[in-house]
Amino acid sequence: MCGIIGRIGDGDAIDALITGLENLEYRGYDSAGVAVQNGAGIKVQKRSGKVDALKESIERGRLRGELGIGHTRWSTHGPPTDENAHPHTDSTTDVAVVHNGIIENYAALRERLSEAGHEFTSDTDTEVVPHLIQHYLDEGVESEMAFRRAIEQLEGSYAIAAICHGEPVIYAARQGSPLVVGLDGDGYYLASDVPAFLEYTDTVVYLQDGDVAILRSNGLRITDLEGTAVSRDRKTVDWDSEETGKGEFDHYMLKEITEQPTSLAQAIEGRFDAEEGRVHFEEFDRGSFADVDQVLLVACGTSYHAAMYGSVALRRAGVNASAMLANEYSLSAPPVDERTLVVAVTQSGETADTLGALRRANEQGAPTLAVTNVVGSTAAREADERLFIRAGPEIGVAATKTFSSQAVVLTLLAHRIARDATGFSTLGIEEISAELERLPSRVDEVLADSGAEAIARRYPDERSYFFIGRGLGYPVALEGALKFKEITYEHAEGFASGELKHGPLALVTPETPVFAIFTGREDEKTLKNAEEAATRGAPIVAICPDGHQAADVADAQLRIPETHPTLAGLLATVQLQLVSYHAADLLNRAIDKPRNLAKSVTVE
Ligand code: F6R
Repeated sequence: MCGIIGRIGDGDAIDALITGLENLEYRGYDSAGVAVQNGAGIKVQKRSGKVDALKESIERGRLRGELGIGHTRWSTHGPPTDENAHPHTDSTTDVAVVHNGIIENYAALRERLSEAGHEFTSDTDTEVVPHLIQHYLDEGVESEMAFRRAIEQLEGSYAIAAICHGEPVIYAARQGSPLVVGLDGDGYYLASDVPAFLEYTDTVVYLQDGDVAILRSNGLRITDLEGTAVSRDRKTVDWDSEETGKGEFDHYMLKEITEQPTSLAQAIEGRFDAEEGRVHFEEFDRGSFADVDQVLLVACGTSYHAAMYGSVALRRAGVNASAMLANEYSLSAPPVDERTLVVAVTQSGETADTLGALRRANEQGAPTLAVTNVVGSTAAREADERLFIRAGPEIGVAATKTFSSQAVVLTLLAHRIARDATGFSTLGIEEISAELERLPSRVDEVLADSGAEAIARRYPDERSYFFIGRGLGYPVALEGALKFKEITYEHAEGFASGELKHGPLALVTPETPVFAIFTGREDEKTLKNAEEAATRGAPIVAICPDGHQAADVADAQLRIPETHPTLAGLLATVQLQLVSYHAADLLNRAIDKPRNLAKSVTVE
């Protein structure tokens, strides 16, 4: 949600800034802009729309700079216009600023600055920051101190980068929104996320809340807000820049769907012993979860569906568990104590709602665990424990491979928690193990012969698309519907199949195809529910193995290989991801950048 990039070091900064913006475009694509410093002062170029529009205007204008900052925007304050695009400057363009987050007290600051004669040209909250810095510079305060004083005035969440005329420095500060510094032999990068500069360096320093970073071409200094030096470790990121490219695929989404055999293999590798049916996490000592009475999973969106999957697996394993939307947690947090494990499930580890719930659970004294894809993310740092899903970078705004990796890791974790907490697990991992080992090749089978494109063609432009499932099929149905609406912009809803008759059946017509997920558990009931919809004229698409009785009854089938009921939903997920992808492609949608959305939602 808004991407920040900065570059200071040898050579022209423009290429690194543009590459960074392209790599960060998944965080917002309402507008893009850069500010560079060269002999002629600070030059700003910004445009509403995608990075390509900015790129063209830069090529025409031959912009050059020794250092610079850039931004790709997901609008919060003010529509996506050229004026509201970042970087923002003070009236004299002596200071340029990019920002990710929300400055809650901007109205009061703006009023105060306006009274002092500052003129504003945008609707954004961000614009107060360069004016504040300028205010202190005008008072004769030197630039680093002016930056600190400005930051001290801000309430809310921010990752901010600023440059000042004539100063070979990038100033940065973070509170509640991510920022990471990249180091190569020639200088420094600053970004909201590592993929921004991964093709240049994999050596990084993650900034933490309250940090102020001062980047010069020959050195990096990190302090707290008062100026006291703080030490932050250098880390090497084990992601490969090849992984962050689109490769031969038209869209990141399709690439990431296709990567699931690998991402799932990575998620489970070394974490269970098929012969003994034992789950082993090197992250946790034996008995780590012995004191757990109940588990509460908090998450948003797709991660929430994975959390639901995990909660069903936990209950089946014999542990009291439930999943809760993270954004509801802070208003109605259930009573928790030191025997309630709160698990924050978040791909990015930076979702503000999920971090809010995690912080609340930390305050409540519950032990916390982050299940995330991003090493060094805020969730990974702030939870008591962390477990990585090892899916590799996910760039498409619609989450795909990270859902299946989250679900499978949570399933393994369910078994492990049950074993530690109750002495045994009723999940049946012994029977699941062999199928778990085969899961990546089962996904390969789905990918090789999916038939999803034909189904997408068969049901174009319907009134609504319904997805139903029960047990572990229910979160899969919800996820199928979320993916469909998110990238096709068609109306889609997911239901527990048993719920259809309690209301939603009223909506069912011949123009509402129903995708029914059969996991191999209580399938006869799901089939009955699907038939109830078919009786009202709805076409039924059964997601089931060949030879399944649903395949005979349904109008169409999306084939999945036979597997254990605990894992069948993951194969169905791949089919539903592909249906959404092809339906969106037929409609010519912006698949990797669906309208109004962005990856990594860092505002509440
Ligand atoms: C949908 C999607 C979102 C995210 C949600 C949480 O395809 O990607 O619903 O799942 O914004 O994001 P994370 O998992 O980063 O906390």
